[in-house]
Amino acid sequence: MPAIHARRILVTSALPYANGHIHLGHLVEYVQTDIFVRFQKLCGNRAIYLCADDTHGTAIMIRAKAEGRSEQDLISTMRAAHLADFAGFEIEFDHYGSTDSPANRRLCGDVWQALRDRGLVVSRPVEQLFDPQAGVFLADRFVRGGCPKCGAADQYGDSCEQCGATYGPADLVQPRSTLSGATPEVRSAEHLFVTIESLHDFLATWVRSSGALDAPVANYLAGHFLCDPLRDWDVSRPAPYFGFEIPDAPGHYWYVWFDAPIGYLAATDEWCTKHGEAFADWWHRDQATAVPAEIHHFIGKDITYFHTLFWPAMLEAANLALPTKVRIHGFLTVDGQKMSKSRGTFLLARTYLAHLDPAALRYYYASKLSGGIDDIDLNLAEFAAKVNSDLVGKVVNLASRTARWLEKTGLAAVYPDDGGLFARAAADGAEIAAAYEACDFARAMRVIMLAADRANAYVDAEQPWKLAKAGPEAAGKLQDVATVALNLFRQLAVYLAPVLPKLARDTGALVGGPIQSWAESQTPLCGTAVGPFSPLMQRVDSTQIEALLAASRAANEAPPTGEPAMETPAPSPTTGGDSGVALAAEPLAPTCTIDDFAKIDLRVARIVAAEEVPDAKKLLKLTVSLGGDTTRTVFAGIKGFHEPAALVGRLVVVVANLAPRQMKFGSSEGMVVAASGAGAAGVYLLSPDSGALPGMRLH
Ligand code: 2FM
Ligand code: ZN
Repeated sequence: MPAIHARRILVTSALPYANGHIHLGHLVEYVQTDIFVRFQKLCGNRAIYLCADDTHGTAIMIRAKAEGRSEQDLISTMRAAHLADFAGFEIEFDHYGSTDSPANRRLCGDVWQALRDRGLVVSRPVEQLFDPQAGVFLADRFVRGGCPKCGAADQYGDSCEQCGATYGPADLVQPRSTLSGATPEVRSAEHLFVTIESLHDFLATWVRSSGALDAPVANYLAGHFLCDPLRDWDVSRPAPYFGFEIPDAPGHYWYVWFDAPIGYLAATDEWCTKHGEAFADWWHRDQATAVPAEIHHFIGKDITYFHTLFWPAMLEAANLALPTKVRIHGFLTVDGQKMSKSRGTFLLARTYLAHLDPAALRYYYASKLSGGIDDIDLNLAEFAAKVNSDLVGKVVNLASRTARWLEKTGLAAVYPDDGGLFARAAADGAEIAAAYEACDFARAMRVIMLAADRANAYVDAEQPWKLAKAGPEAAGKLQDVATVALNLFRQLAVYLAPVLPKLARDTGALVGGPIQSWAESQTPLCGTAVGPFSPLMQRVDSTQIEALLAASRAANEAPPTGEPAMETPAPSPTTGGDSGVALAAEPLAPTCTIDDFAKIDLRVARIVAAEEVPDAKKLLKLTVSLGGDTTRTVFAGIKGFHEPAALVGRLVVVVANLAPRQMKFGSSEGMVVAASGAGAAGVYLLSPDSGALPGMRLH
């Protein structure tokens, strides 16, 4: 039961896009938010954790089309997958909505009307690139080409990864659509804009003085955006677009970034309906409640601008409550580098769950998150070492070394003299709570582990295993020592409950009943029964990590909608550990000279079109680009192993100087290189490392 004057805290994480699976990068934020919410609830505050799938936009539309299904079908499949991943990591939402919901459509209409009423919407034509083959306007990231500033090839439509320049997609040198490979055309269409410059003074004051933003973020916004007039925000897209049609502008749709944050309002509305509460008590400025609601948004640093300028501007225009706090975190790297599909470090939540304990990752992230904007690194060796040393070696070990001696007797009736250990750790509670409140979970974990060290030193000194052997006269002392150790363990489990909910549940089942409040860390238990002990956590083994990486590599080979990857055995460090079956079935060819090899012109090429060949059992017809205007039509025997739509845009290797061959279906002007053989049924296309360009020769 929340206390009478408990805080009322509405908490959100950024809404994940419905066009991809949850990965470990996403989970930094969901774990961080979930820990914060669980901590607030444990303290008796009224916290609600809201989220939703972000379902609209061009990407979903294109993907649904490529997969031959409706957008609704696609987003409902992804929703189920997201919810399963979140549940697997014990991310406990109070409500999980969808931006494609009736509530969101209605609230978008309300906010829109407020913007209109305040005269903040204008209309003007915009020139945008249009893919004539796919029949859609292209969002910036669907266009690639040469950087207009430094000339680097194959850059996105909005910025250059080489020199950092920002520009518009129409500025690219030789732009091409990543959807079809076609050269985009510039077309003009009417767009609607919000003139947020009219709210400049309000935003400048809010950024500086509301307390919602940490000083570095406020300074960044002041120095990069608020120092100049704010550019109008383009909030509409012409048809075709998957989203909500704008009621007073038929044929135009709200841009995904307009309806996404309103998804926070819609999720609140749906939660309120479910719980008989009033939306106004959470989002209106004048609340009838005794305690005003706080609103905390957790986001990644890449979407700062949307949440600290556009979103407050929308809320201000609609006269709704402004965020109390926007909590911004950095990105995740894996072993010091961006997550990479080819290195096998693009780690999906579902792949992780097939190999490792979610509690291990929750703890590791907690130990790295300090509330700031710095990137955090998942160093896999450190991950294993930290989990094994802290959770298994220090925390769980306390219970496994002592609980079994209390199974028959229960805890001692009076709490024994422990030299002040319990009281000292209880006093740490204030610092740990302050650290949780500030989202400095790393500090909370450090203080907790120091308490764990002291508790283990106590057990080492008292040597209960010797007391157990000493016979009946030592039984009282044994019960006392085990009572102290198990209480110190339960105290740690209370402190760790926001991070490790399963450990908290298992601890409750072992001794003392469910952990329900932070206050339980302050008083030891006495005279309580102790249940049978079963292991609370396993060590992380390096073979599990190797299997995770291998499975991630395999998952990357599967089509995007594919089910979890097949398991691949971990390689042996000396031989690679792979079966010799493929080689035995097809022994090596006779030696050739370098001159023989040089006759074969192998090139990197991009698949720009792929289609089924009616009546051909094994063939797909591919059009591959060797760069510039040079293309080849190739019939490849890969049907059944690759969805044509999923191949478009992908780089492959082709034999570029193979004599054309007339086939029943047309002329084949080359060959796409693929592996096949005994041991696995697939046909596996070869891809170069990222950075390779069409036309490059293989040497
Ligand atoms: O960046 C993203 O993944 C977006 N889908 C986040 C949306 S958050 C909010 F504004 F809805
Ligand atoms: Zn550049």
